[in-house]
Amino acid sequence: MISKSRWKLLAMLALVLVVMVWYSISREDRYLELGFYFPIPEKKEPCFQGEVERKASKLFGNYSRDQPIFLQLKDYFWVKTPSAYELPYGTKGSEDLLLRVLAVTSYSIPESIQSLKCRRCVVVGNGHRLRNSSLGDAINKYDVVIRLNNAPVAGYEGDVGSKTTMRLFYPESAHFDPKVENNPDTLLVLVAFKAMDFHWIETILSDKKRVRKGFWKQPPLIWDVNPRQVRILNPFFMEIAADKLLSLPMQQPRKIKQKPTTGLLAITLALHLCDLVHIAGFGYPDAHNRKQTIHYYEQITLKSMAGSGHNVSQEALAIKRMLEIGAVKNLTFF
Ligand SMILES: *[C@@H]1O[C@H](CO)[C@@H](O)[C@H](O)[C@H]1NC(C)=O
Ligand SMILES: *[C@@H]1O[C@H](CO)[C@@H](O)[C@H](O)[C@H]1NC(C)=O
Ligand SMILES: *[C@@H]1O[C@H](CO)[C@@H](O)[C@H](O)[C@H]1NC(C)=O
Ligand SMILES: *[C@@H]1O[C@H](CO)[C@@H](O)[C@H](O)[C@H]1NC(C)=O
Repeated sequence: MISKSRWKLLAMLALVLVVMVWYSISREDRYLELGFYFPIPEKKEPCFQGEVERKASKLFGNYSRDQPIFLQLKDYFWVKTPSAYELPYGTKGSEDLLLRVLAVTSYSIPESIQSLKCRRCVVVGNGHRLRNSSLGDAINKYDVVIRLNNAPVAGYEGDVGSKTTMRLFYPESAHFDPKVENNPDTLLVLVAFKAMDFHWIETILSDKKRVRKGFWKQPPLIWDVNPRQVRILNPFFMEIAADKLLSLPMQQPRKIKQKPTTGLLAITLALHLCDLVHIAGFGYPDAHNRKQTIHYYEQITLKSMAGSGHNVSQEALAIKRMLEIGAVKNLTFF
């Protein structure tokens, strides 16, 4: 017969176990201070290391992942092999400017991403299909959330989430109040289309005399960010998005310059950085649909895209192909 005190002890142990399990479930990393590990049902998508890399090679050919995501200062002290192209596809001619910009910015990938065995990423486009999508919680669960341009988060959390690991932007698309729409640790990733874009970030971060000419829309003149959060995207991604995904000629006459959208560029980057890539909020209304707004947050239509140098039907074909080969998965209708 088991004595009363034994029962008490067993009951205590059971209680401790229940508390431990509850505690481990409530903690994200699922490890207990005591060193116990309780496998709990994995709610996240299964992630297979290297899967996206294999599939992306069908789109980009035999390319290596050795290219740095962000430009590094050390590559501009002594340029051994100059870039073949000028901006936006390379850095030819912008080396001196870059040297000054990279001296104040940073290039590291945060340890929290670097240390992951398998990186689950979502690229959140700015498309109207995010409106009333209720995808916010799902989006916040990814390891890396990539957002574009001035897309707002405040007031749209239920549909687009609130986590922003990286935001790709160029001067004309920069939000005037970056603190409101980003997290304190968001990486602000500058996509340079022209040398003036490097000049802009230099004058902002080093507080030099601002330049007002050379932009198609006035970018912020005061921009309250920590320079250590700023990164310069490697133009390599613009090159392969244009060349491999859109088959654009690398050398175009000045007047008809076509280029990928920041959205397509962000997917290209994600295919390079991640092991799982999901996309949400991509896709434009049909060309004949003149009333439908294109973004989830503002009342502009396809008309505003005219003259932007983007071919949205060509990009749609590229994204369809990625969906077909399973390199990316769509969370909203595409
Ligand atoms: C592809 O890459 C592998 C490994 O780097 C190399 O051995 C192979 O020759 C490459 N194939 C082509 C077609 O470039
Ligand atoms: C979104 O939901 C709100 C409230 O339910 C509704 O008024 C609005 O029409 C919906 N918008 C769209 C684009 O479906
Ligand atoms: C855009 O892409 C479509 C589909 O590839 C093509 O038919 C069309 O000519 C392109 N438009 C321009 C302006 O290049
Ligand atoms: C993804 O897009 C396809 C059409 O291309 C659509 O049938 C499917 O419902 C979409 N998935 C989601 C989750 O919206």
